[in-house]
Amino acid sequence: MKILITGGNGMLSKQLVKDFSSHEYELFAYGRDKLDVCSRENVKDVVTQTSPDIIIHTAAFTNVDACEKDVDLSYKINLIGTQNLVESNIDINAKFVYISSTGCYGTSKHKEAYSELDVPEPTTVHHKSKLTGEEFVKAHLNDYLILRTGWLYGGDKDDAKNFVYKRYLESLGKEEMFSDQSQIGNPTYVGDFANQIKTLIQEKCLGVFNCVNSGTASRFEYVKKIIELFESDCRVLPAPPDSFKRLAPVSNNESAINYKLDLMGLNVMPSWESALQGYINSLIK
Ligand SMILES: NC(=O)c1ccc[n+]([C@@H]2O[C@H](COP(=O)([O-])OP(=O)(O)OC[C@H]3O[C@@H](n4cnc5c(N)ncnc54)[C@H](OP(=O)(O)O)[C@@H]3O)[C@@H](O)[C@H]2O)c1
Repeated sequence: MKILITGGNGMLSKQLVKDFSSHEYELFAYGRDKLDVCSRENVKDVVTQTSPDIIIHTAAFTNVDACEKDVDLSYKINLIGTQNLVESNIDINAKFVYISSTGCYGTSKHKEAYSELDVPEPTTVHHKSKLTGEEFVKAHLNDYLILRTGWLYGGDKDDAKNFVYKRYLESLGKEEMFSDQSQIGNPTYVGDFANQIKTLIQEKCLGVFNCVNSGTASRFEYVKKIIELFESDCRVLPAPPDSFKRLAPVSNNESAINYKLDLMGLNVMPSWESALQGYINSLIK
């Protein structure tokens, strides 16, 4: 089975390559240099040449604050990039896996976690553009998965975007550090997400699914747990209100439950605490 993965240099894409590497799958994971999703011609050529059975579309403009500053680029990558792939796929008819975000749900719930039954009402340019990508996929394809995930972490220690290891490095030599307690979400290990994607593909599932590690945490609880698990001496304290001002009007509640996966008995994602423990153990061993 041939799988084309977009955003080949990204965190999720690298994990998918690790976890799908087996004789069962032939993988084509291309970074922007080989597959720029914004280029119609480039996308058409690559999709035609590889003729995949599955396309996993991870490429995106993921910097939420930068999206506020460059609205056009946000829609160009997150909407038009998706549109180019979907259009190129019409004749190929590969299963299309679109990676989305629980941030798309917006602000309708104060603290309760969102399920797939909630209507997304995104508040940021990033999440609005991701939702337009979702809508395009839904409108034009039948064989698709739209997977809304949470605060993804993972990768090697030296990955520039390794949130978990960066917090540990930041704690070294400090007596205390501060973290935001106003926003809640689901810290989600990229390896568990890749595993859930594999299950959904193997089970030939269709439609929209939340895919997060279970349980909700504030950023403060998340960072506190990271520092505890690394056994660093630094104390993590809740930051005073408004000390982490962001350009993007992000929702204070990005938390979700895998409601549909639970109903179907297909939820293979563990709690965020045990996933984090496993990941940190793998970094320090
Ligand atoms: N990380 C999270 O917390 C999180 C949460 C919810 C949902 N998601 C979704 O999960 C997916 C994967 O995220 P991630 O964490 O792996 O992000 P990531 O590490 O930032 O990877 C995204 C990749 O997309 C690439 N890209 C950007 N524009 C492109 C273009 N025009 N053509 C081809 N590639 C392009 C980037 O390439 P460059 O390196 O060249 O810029 C980057 O390698 C995304 O769809 C994201 O929206 C992520």
